[in-house]
Amino acid sequence: MKWVVVENYAALSATAARVLLDTIAKKPDAVLALPTGRTPEGMYANVVSACVGKGRCFRDVSTFNLDEYVGIPPEHPGSYFSYMKRHLFDHVDIDPEKVNIPDGLASRVRIEHPELSLDEALQVECAWYEENIRKAGGIDLTFLGLGRNGHIGFNEPGTAFESRTHVIRLSESTRIANADLFADGTVPERAITMGIGTILDSRAIVLMASGSAKAAAVKTLAESNPDPGFPASGLKHHRDVTVLVDSAASALLPSTSGKRH
Ligand code: GLP
Repeated sequence: MKWVVVENYAALSATAARVLLDTIAKKPDAVLALPTGRTPEGMYANVVSACVGKGRCFRDVSTFNLDEYVGIPPEHPGSYFSYMKRHLFDHVDIDPEKVNIPDGLASRVRIEHPELSLDEALQVECAWYEENIRKAGGIDLTFLGLGRNGHIGFNEPGTAFESRTHVIRLSESTRIANADLFADGTVPERAITMGIGTILDSRAIVLMASGSAKAAAVKTLAESNPDPGFPASGLKHHRDVTVLVDSAASALLPSTSGKRH
């Protein structure tokens, strides 16, 4: 794991955006896995500013989002589909055909297979998602946020490191942490998430953590051996992971500059 510690959230956002933009400049048809949450908002804002007015930016890029809530339609304001439109897709020249976000209602599956129950259709949706990643040639670069309990995507503690895209029941702490993103505070109970194994297949990974609320999780990440009880520690099995943290998130680490693990 390579550790990069920057001063603050603005620097973290600019650094992450630079990594994304450099990747798509070098490989215009790159396949990216993208996160949601508060942490990547600044990265997306920087990417949008850099792309505005540029003839070509995302035209041949494919994206796969890490996760989506089960039981709400894409147009729901709390969905990750809406989030991605708001923060990135509505502002750049991405081809909608190259945007992939798990469908938490498995609508396309249910049209093709009306005999399936919702849960059966969600299983098929997960298998289709894996297949689409494979057909796209695999993921070049994955950006991750970090849950306070160490989750990546929506892989909650206890998820196997070999897991593929699957439906997961969200922990109470994750639902509370995300409640203010839903107007009535009611967060869905389940989500579809790329598995940890799917994430580990990515050719490169950047994990971002900002602010003091993440300091304990960052310390655990730095100090723990791979343990499914702390999902992000599975990243230690990968050979190209950059952990990008700001000084508040790295406050509990023994040294705060240029740290390498
Ligand atoms: C959600 C998302 C994760 C994200 C995490 C941290 O649960 N599914 O992908 O990394 O929250 O979010 P935040 O960046 O808002 O702290």
